[in-house]
Amino acid sequence: METYNIAVLPGDGIGPEVMDVTLKVLDLVAEHHQLQFSFQKADVGGTAIDQHGTALPDPTLEICRQSDAILFGSVGGPKWEHLPPKEQPERASLLPLRKAFSLFANLRPGLLYPSLIPASPLKPEIIPDGIDILCVRELTGGIYFGDRYTKVLGNNDIEAADTMIYRKSEIERIARVAISAAQNRKKRVCLVDKANVLETSVLWRKTVSDYMEAYAPDIELETMYVDNAAMQLVRNPSQFDVILTENMFGDILSDEMGVVCGSLGMLASASLGMLENRFAHPFGLFEPAGGTAPDIAGKNLANPCAQILSAALLLRFSLGLDEVAAAIEHAVSKVVNGGTRTGDIAFGGPFVSTTEMGDAICMALSA
Ligand code: IPM
Ligand code: MN
Repeated sequence: METYNIAVLPGDGIGPEVMDVTLKVLDLVAEHHQLQFSFQKADVGGTAIDQHGTALPDPTLEICRQSDAILFGSVGGPKWEHLPPKEQPERASLLPLRKAFSLFANLRPGLLYPSLIPASPLKPEIIPDGIDILCVRELTGGIYFGDRYTKVLGNNDIEAADTMIYRKSEIERIARVAISAAQNRKKRVCLVDKANVLETSVLWRKTVSDYMEAYAPDIELETMYVDNAAMQLVRNPSQFDVILTENMFGDILSDEMGVVCGSLGMLASASLGMLENRFAHPFGLFEPAGGTAPDIAGKNLANPCAQILSAALLLRFSLGLDEVAAAIEHAVSKVVNGGTRTGDIAFGGPFVSTTEMGDAICMALSA
């Protein structure tokens, strides 16, 4: 029987409770498909600060290194907000994890099931068929990782700087990811940049268009300035298929995409690294987009779907278990479209708990 090692990092807030439900789902599909998952749990984020004095302890990194993929919950919360920004759980665990494993490709599917159209803040007539966008965000470069400083000037004024740097090679490797995603979708990529102002954006535009002309002439490339893209996402999101963009624009646009897709509780994400020779599939970190939701943490109220769908992405991208991933995605959509809802997607109607949602998905998987 094939055994896979999965590093499980539940983190803070609702992380542990949605993770518990997700591991049940994974155990169930393992049984159905004659697989074995070995889960190695490790502390991360605020919980790790409390237990070990650091948001990303060495043993946690080591467990990740030994694994085939990382299933990540969420990190952060009011308890750690007094810490200096550099030491806060989000920045001190997620960013170093991304860098340590060169997770340069962040895929965020923005999917709004037709039955959840009322959960979107957009008017239903703008999105009659729901939404299906894939945001491909560069994740280990740009302004997130360039040099930064704050210094006091001679006249006592204060200056701060963050540097945005991109190389052609970095742009090409993320372009490849967007192209291969587009091949399996509507064969359209929209490159979002600020080429009317930024030098890095000019390089992005040239690199992506040259690359696609040479290697993917069948994929249609559109370019759009980021301010316009932010507007188009609420004006007419259905025009997008694959959005390709740099780190910070992707951070901002993917939150916007998240909210137009209804609940953050439904959004999964994959952060993928390079294909290495000894692996057939890229290593990756898989996490829900929604955050720790401290207001409902520990109350068995959170929507576990984003975590479960993130586990499905893990199976697909890092383990190559497409069919199993699709079975999970199908079960989630069946349950949600069938009217079983957690509070965030219940429109004021009756709702179920985190564990009941998990049970319903397990039932659908067994049906
Ligand atoms: C995200 C988050 C992170 C980011 C933060 C927590 C560092 O907002 O994954 O989008 O900005 O990348
Ligand atoms: Mn973000």
